[in-house]
Amino acid sequence: MAGALRFVNGRARAPPWRLGGSRCTFRPMTYAAITGWGACMPPAVLTNDDLSTFLETTDEWIRTRTGMRERRVSHVSGMELSIISAHRALACAGLDPADVELIVYGSCSNEEAVPNSASGVQAALGATRAAAMDLNTACTSFLYGLTTATAMIKTGVVKNAVVIGVELISKYMDWSDRSVAVLFGDGAAAVVLQATDAPIGVIGSVLGCDALSRRTLRVRGIGVGYAGRNVTIGDTKWDFDGQAIFKRAVHGMSESAARVMAEHGVTAADVDLVVPHQANLRIIEAVAKYAGLPMDKVMLTVERYGNMSSATVPVALVEALDEGRVKPGGLLLLPGFGGGLTYASLLVRWGDRVTPLGVSDKVLPPCTRTALEMVNEIRAYQDPGGRSAPGLSTLVAGTCDG
Ligand code: ACO
Repeated sequence: MAGALRFVNGRARAPPWRLGGSRCTFRPMTYAAITGWGACMPPAVLTNDDLSTFLETTDEWIRTRTGMRERRVSHVSGMELSIISAHRALACAGLDPADVELIVYGSCSNEEAVPNSASGVQAALGATRAAAMDLNTACTSFLYGLTTATAMIKTGVVKNAVVIGVELISKYMDWSDRSVAVLFGDGAAAVVLQATDAPIGVIGSVLGCDALSRRTLRVRGIGVGYAGRNVTIGDTKWDFDGQAIFKRAVHGMSESAARVMAEHGVTAADVDLVVPHQANLRIIEAVAKYAGLPMDKVMLTVERYGNMSSATVPVALVEALDEGRVKPGGLLLLPGFGGGLTYASLLVRWGDRVTPLGVSDKVLPPCTRTALEMVNEIRAYQDPGGRSAPGLSTLVAGTCDG
C-alpha cells in the first residue's frame, strides 16, 4: 500500500494574513455535510437467465460466485442518468441549481473526452456558476470525488458541490466474454455537499493505488491509444484477472478501512453502517469479516444491480437512506476499489437530517425495449474476433507496464 494519501482533519489554522500583532483571529473549522442525495436507476432488468441466452453461463454459477441475480441496462445516456440524479439530490437538499459551485462527475464511461460530462450536467441543471470536472479513478471515482469536493469545501474554494457516481458500462462491455459480461450493470446517483461548522460529512479518507497491479484490469479499446487501429468504437477486449483482482480488492479495501478507522480512533463497534463497493458478495463478506463487522451492518445492492463501478456506493447510500438505515448522527464506512487498482475508504459522520427536504419531479423517458433487446443491439455492432481484434490485442504505445 505504498504511496497512499491521507486526508485527515487537521487543526484549524488561521491564514497568515489574519495573524497580526498580539491578536490572531481563527477561522472556525469548516466541514462538508451531505445534505442531499438522489439516484436514477434505468428500469430495464437483465437477468442471469437473459445472459445465458447468448453466453455459456448459468444463473447458478453467477449467483454462487458473485451474489448477483440481475443488473440494469440503460436506454439513455450516462449524462441523462446523472442529470436526474443531480436534480433529485438538489431537491433533497433544498438547494437551487443556480447556487451550485462545483459539479464532480465520477465515472469511467464518459460520453466524450471533450467536452467533459460535468459541463453537460452543469448546462442541463442551469448551474451556471458551477465549476465542472470529470474524475476517473474507475470504480472509486465517486469516493475520490467525495474526498476532493470535501477538501475543496473545507479549504474554502467552494461552499457546496454536487458529486455524481455514474456508469454506462453496457455500451462498451465485451458481451462475448462471460468472465466479465455477467458482472457489471448501469446506474447513477448523486449527493450534495454543503459547508457547515458542525463536524459532519467526510471526517476521514484513505486513498491509494496499487499501481503495480494495474495490468490485472484493463479495458482495451477505449481511449486515444486505440486511434488509427481499425477498432470499432464500443468494441472492447478486457484484460481481467478475476482472482488477482479479488485478492487485491479484499486487501486494498480492508487495509484502507482499518487505517482510516485507526487514524480516527474508531473501532468496528462505532461503525453503524458499511456502504461498500459492490463488485462481488464474497469480496464484501471478506472485507466485513476482516474489519470485524457483522453483515447486518452492511448495505447490499449487488444482488439486484451487480457492479455499477463508480455508481455502486452512491446508489447503495441513497437506498440505505430510503430504507431508514442511516440514523441521525450515525457513522458510516465507505470502502471501495477499482481499476488502477485504486482503493479508498471513507468515514462519514451523518448529520441530523435523514429525510429529504424536497422531491424532484424529473423522470426518465419511458423505456420501450427489454434489457436483452438492448444488449443484443450492442452485440450486433461489436465485432469479437473480427476487424477490431488486431488493434485491440497490440499494446497501446507508451504504456509503462506492457
Ligand atoms: N459462467 C460460467 N463459468 C464461468 C464464468 C461464467 N460467467 N466466468 C468464468 N467461468 C469459468 C472460468 O472459465 C473457470 O473455468 P475453468 O476452471 O474451466 O478454467 C471457472 O469458471 C472458475 O473461474 P474462477 O476464476 O475460479 O472463478 P472465481 O470463483 O474466481 O470467480 C470472479 C470469478 C467472479 C470473476 C471472481 O474472481 C471475482 O469476483 N473477481 C473480482 C472481480 C471484480 O472485483 N471485478 C471488479 C473489478 S474493479 C471494478 O469494480 C471495475
